[in-house]
Amino acid sequence: MAFTEPAPTPLALLLLGHGADPDTERGVECPGDLPPASDPALVERARAAKEALGDRLFILGHHYQRDEVIQFADTTGDSFKLSQQAAAHPEAEYIVFCGVHFMAESADILTAEHQKVVLPDMAAGCSMADMAQIDQVREAWSVFEAAGIAEAVVPITYMNSSADIKAFVGRHDGTVCTSSNAKVSMEWAFDRGEKVFFLPDQHLGRNTAVRDLGLSLDDCVLWDPHKPHGGLTDEQLRAAKVILWRGHCSVHGRFTEASIRDVRERVPGVTVIVHPECQYEVVQNADLVGSTEYIIKAISEAPAGSAFAVGTELNLVRRLAIEHPDKTVVFLDRDVCFCSTMNRIDLPHLVWALENLVAGNVVQQITVDEDTAHWARVALDRMLALPGVGAKD
Ligand code: 13P
Ligand code: SF4
Repeated sequence: MAFTEPAPTPLALLLLGHGADPDTERGVECPGDLPPASDPALVERARAAKEALGDRLFILGHHYQRDEVIQFADTTGDSFKLSQQAAAHPEAEYIVFCGVHFMAESADILTAEHQKVVLPDMAAGCSMADMAQIDQVREAWSVFEAAGIAEAVVPITYMNSSADIKAFVGRHDGTVCTSSNAKVSMEWAFDRGEKVFFLPDQHLGRNTAVRDLGLSLDDCVLWDPHKPHGGLTDEQLRAAKVILWRGHCSVHGRFTEASIRDVRERVPGVTVIVHPECQYEVVQNADLVGSTEYIIKAISEAPAGSAFAVGTELNLVRRLAIEHPDKTVVFLDRDVCFCSTMNRIDLPHLVWALENLVAGNVVQQITVDEDTAHWARVALDRMLALPGVGAKD
């Protein structure tokens, strides 16, 4: 099935780091005097600030972070592992999250009251998370109610969504999922209802429903928040098993079947391994599919001499290539680039945030209001209680 064109965003993208748009995770201004990127002492400054903070600080680093930042992470991981790790360090007064805004929000929700979560640059949002706004989700639900299907629908939101959408899902007896446990989450939902409403990544939702649960493409319909009634009739909604939100990752959504054909010609015997945020036909043509943790494990455990073409974010793929000189690790597509928002967290922002903490100033703190946090925690706790982590192949 062909990749649907990206849905228009309600607002034009603001230049990152300039101007403020409080309703979304885009373009939030970063105040303060950052050290210049050219400062040769940045590494030493980060090290000194980290040492001064000692056990009061715990730094989480997502696999898509830059090398210059990831070297300071106390733990690295995919969104699932990092959400567990955030909850597992109550001794740390400050959790510095090197990742994106929705991850830091989840960390704030899962950590204790006395802990403060810091995102070194507020402009580190996620375009996929921005594709689902809470008012649009409420509107969709009221259409489900009018169509008489809401009682049968269990909502699942991908971790890559704002806290208010996680709270919405918590209030409506649903769960959060990550790319590591989308399969078990969807099975859990189908044990409780007849239909799943999957937000905001249509590709992860479709790949999970069709590849992992054996549903057909026709069992899935696409809810377009920019069309009246989501662009669907009541009959289509009643017939559907999975209602997919029309959102996607601007990085993973760009890999194509052509990139797979091309790399198979360039690198004979290559194993194509991709993230489930990729389009359905990309995933169908790949050899292995799984979360970032899964990709790392598969490459690490492969015998020397193996060759992999990897369809995920470039910072991680470059690092894997460096860490495995005995294997061939190439990027799946020559034209796809870094996740621009993950890349917002650079060494100057990290040093600035850490030095402020040393001086007693908490900058760029992420706080989720109590009511939203309560219901989002309900949904996150349901996810954390699910059995196993369903890494796929
Ligand atoms: P995971 O870390 O859960 O694999 O998700 C990938 C991603 O796109 C995070 O933004
Ligand atoms: Fe969002 Fe995609 Fe970037 Fe992950 S890689 S933060 S899903 S835009």
